[in-house]
Amino acid sequence: MIGISFVLSHAAMASLSNILLMFCLLNLLAFPVSVHSAGEVPINVTKHFSFYNFSFSNNPRLVHDMKLLGSAKFSNEKGALQIPNESEEDIRHQAGRGIYSFPIRLLDPSTKTPASFQTTFSFQMNNSTASEQAAYGGSGLTFIIVPDEFTVGRPGPWLGMLNDACENDYKAVAVEFDTRKNPEFGDLNDNHVGINLGTIVSTKVINVSDVGLSLNDGSVHRAWITYDGPQRRMDIRLGRANQEDYDYPPKPLFSESMDLSPFLNEYMFVGFSASTGNHTQIHNILSWNFTSTSQAFLRLPSSETCQGKILLENSTASTEVPPTSHKSSKNEPPRSFLIFVAAVALALALFLGFYFISKHRRNAAKLNTSVEAELHMPRPPNKPRRFAFSQLSSSTRSFSEIELLGSDNRGEYYRGKLSNGSQVAVKRFSAQFLSTHGSDKKRLLKEIKGVSHVRHPNLLLVRGWCQDNHEIMVVYDFVPNGSLDKWLFGAGVLPWTRRFKVIKDVADGLSFLHTKQLAHKNLKCSSVFLDVNFRAVLGDFGFVLMGAESKHFESQVCQGADVFEFGVLVLEVIAGRVRDEKEEGNPEERNLLDYAWNLHQIDEKVKLVDRRMGSLINLEQAIRVLEIGLLCTLNENKGRPSMEQVVEFLLNMDKPIPELPRTRPVALFPYNSANTGLCNAYSCTF
Ligand SMILES: *[C@@H]1O[C@H](CO)[C@@H](O)[C@H](O)[C@H]1NC(C)=O
Ligand SMILES: *[C@@H]1O[C@H](CO)[C@@H](O)[C@H](O)[C@H]1NC(C)=O
Ligand SMILES: *[C@@H]1O[C@H](CO)[C@@H](O)[C@H](O)[C@H]1NC(C)=O
Ligand SMILES: *[C@@H]1O[C@H](CO)[C@@H](O)[C@H](O)[C@H]1NC(C)=O
Ligand SMILES: *[C@@H]1O[C@H](CO)[C@@H](O)[C@H](O)[C@H]1NC(C)=O
Ligand SMILES: *[C@@H]1O[C@H](CO)[C@@H](O)[C@H](O)[C@H]1NC(C)=O
Ligand SMILES: *[C@@H]1O[C@H](CO)[C@@H](O)[C@H](O)[C@H]1NC(C)=O
Ligand SMILES: *[C@@H]1O[C@H](CO)[C@@H](O)[C@H](O)[C@H]1NC(C)=O
Ligand SMILES: *[C@@H]1O[C@H](CO)[C@@H](O)[C@H](O)[C@H]1NC(C)=O
Repeated sequence: MIGISFVLSHAAMASLSNILLMFCLLNLLAFPVSVHSAGEVPINVTKHFSFYNFSFSNNPRLVHDMKLLGSAKFSNEKGALQIPNESEEDIRHQAGRGIYSFPIRLLDPSTKTPASFQTTFSFQMNNSTASEQAAYGGSGLTFIIVPDEFTVGRPGPWLGMLNDACENDYKAVAVEFDTRKNPEFGDLNDNHVGINLGTIVSTKVINVSDVGLSLNDGSVHRAWITYDGPQRRMDIRLGRANQEDYDYPPKPLFSESMDLSPFLNEYMFVGFSASTGNHTQIHNILSWNFTSTSQAFLRLPSSETCQGKILLENSTASTEVPPTSHKSSKNEPPRSFLIFVAAVALALALFLGFYFISKHRRNAAKLNTSVEAELHMPRPPNKPRRFAFSQLSSSTRSFSEIELLGSDNRGEYYRGKLSNGSQVAVKRFSAQFLSTHGSDKKRLLKEIKGVSHVRHPNLLLVRGWCQDNHEIMVVYDFVPNGSLDKWLFGAGVLPWTRRFKVIKDVADGLSFLHTKQLAHKNLKCSSVFLDVNFRAVLGDFGFVLMGAESKHFESQVCQGADVFEFGVLVLEVIAGRVRDEKEEGNPEERNLLDYAWNLHQIDEKVKLVDRRMGSLINLEQAIRVLEIGLLCTLNENKGRPSMEQVVEFLLNMDKPIPELPRTRPVALFPYNSANTGLCNAYSCTF
């Protein structure tokens, strides 16, 4: 009923012709609608995984599914995840994490409802005989929920829970099993369970001695943590276990209301952290089960068109897990369910259609097809639409400098806030660009509209455009983490796992665009954006006009150029360097592409890999990706792959890729496209 009233209240405000009403209805069917409106259906997103033990010889996928950070290892003989790494010389003052590699959806951002989850794990804390200096007994273990899978927390009393980099701004939830008393953190004894919400100081502390257990007495314990998201209630049980045998404790150690939502992002990572200080022990996790369920709203496009069907298929996959992570088809809603949903939506739409028409006849509205009417037409908020100049001007505070996000040879970017509160990025083409390249404004707009109808998780959503006041602007979704170049060439260091994901995301987005006979035409690090989950999305499309060549020819040329630009982008991501260093450094290394080929020739590609990533890098993987990047810079008739092939290479990392020529085939052309108005590397195709 919420959905219906949403539409009606808008309809009541507008007076429109029959034609417009029917058009609106079609839109309603054809495009995703905001939360709780008629086009969305709640589905349960569930995730389940379990580790019977942590022996990698029995489970070769273990190293893929679990990420070890800091001092941690898998002990094959003991079947345990051990923190700290027992083999290290000095295990004092260590911190480590073992994190499930794939993000879990733990919050529905639209309703702020946390997911429900249950997890059970068995653990054993052993005194290590390895180090002589150390005293026994510290520090403790936590089950953690953290926003990333590449940072390690602080050692000592911090239990590896909190991150040094962003002290007050790190969303994290932990259930600690603490075996040291740190009065400064409010610990009551050296044998307690605590619940930590974004801080190491526990919100709740439970004396484990009260139930007759001792966490570090060397026995195997089993913990059950259950969270009911909608009720916001947590239940913790703790018992003694003997590997498979355990007694489910009838009485919970803790069972109270607890709102986790302020400490969760939509997607989080789960796992364990532990640390040592002057006192040491080995924290062993012996088995682990995890299940979560959250509610998501399935956006329902039309199932009538072929495009709609594809969207329907692929959007269900992406509500389950972010597209960057693994596809586990198990949890997808069954097809029959989708068909049922589609049928219900169709029926609803027909009902609404009749309602509108009859209501409308009663009201007898005037026909008005002016721009004003188009602008005020009720439409689902996600449908690309036309904006008035005044709307964009007021949303960006008259294109004020405070809202300026960046600029390039095509124009400026502004941050804007629409009247409904949502944030957008507005690209305002410069007058100069429009006069040199945009004389054929109709075609420019056609391109913008063409791209705005393409939807993919790795393509920035085009909200609409503005054609008014002799200006042309494009309105995009606002991406909070900014563009890739800021992360890559800025002060911080993007770890390899993130870089690899970015490359895969970009390849997926580009490949999708190419299947639609479109091209990006402006691929570079500053046109790749990172969302809150560090998923890469392509934006800032080229939208440039070419001569009068046939459409097919044009798109082929530009797709070839996209692949080339992708290759250079891959080099930039791996090297953490811009393609064209102006002043600094060795002249031989200034042109990244030449430098990379030279290194390939002397078999020293390793030198290109950004050293700042330290040891946390899969070098073999990085070199292969680098080779894929180089392949993309080959001449088109000399082995440059298509994006579809690139996606394939990145997906099946074991499959061999075509051999690179020893030296780079002669082809000199300016690949720095920044200032060419044309399709970037146009010349590279000949
Ligand atoms: C989703 O889960 C809730 C609670 O577990 C259940 O009541 C509801 O029927 C489920 N919905 C679907 C579509 O499976
Ligand atoms: C554990 O420490 C040993 C000795 O320092 C080292 O060789 C090994 O690679 C470490 N294991 C892991 C998983 O880091
Ligand atoms: C780990 O589990 C497998 C069965 O999944 C079993 O065969 C193996 O013996 C176990 N290893 C240890 C060390 O418990
Ligand atoms: C812990 O210590 C006990 C007793 O020394 C031993 O039997 C057990 O295998 C150890 N567990 C681990 C995981 O090292
Ligand atoms: C914890 O419980 C034990 C056993 O009931 C009791 O002796 C001890 O005083 C308690 N500690 C605190 C700090 O309450
Ligand atoms: C480890 O040492 C601490 C402190 O001496 C002791 O309380 C605990 O029982 C020991 N644990 C094991 C498994 O021996
Ligand atoms: C650890 O021990 C050293 C010397 O034994 C001492 O200086 C230091 O303060 C201790 N650290 C902690 C956290 O207790
Ligand atoms: C995980 O859960 C399954 C059933 O859901 C159960 O059979 C199994 O024993 C559990 N394993 C662990 C390690 O908790
Ligand atoms: C939908 O997703 C699947 C799996 O990711 C992919 O193979 C397929 O090509 C996608 N459909 C389109 C049209 O992109």
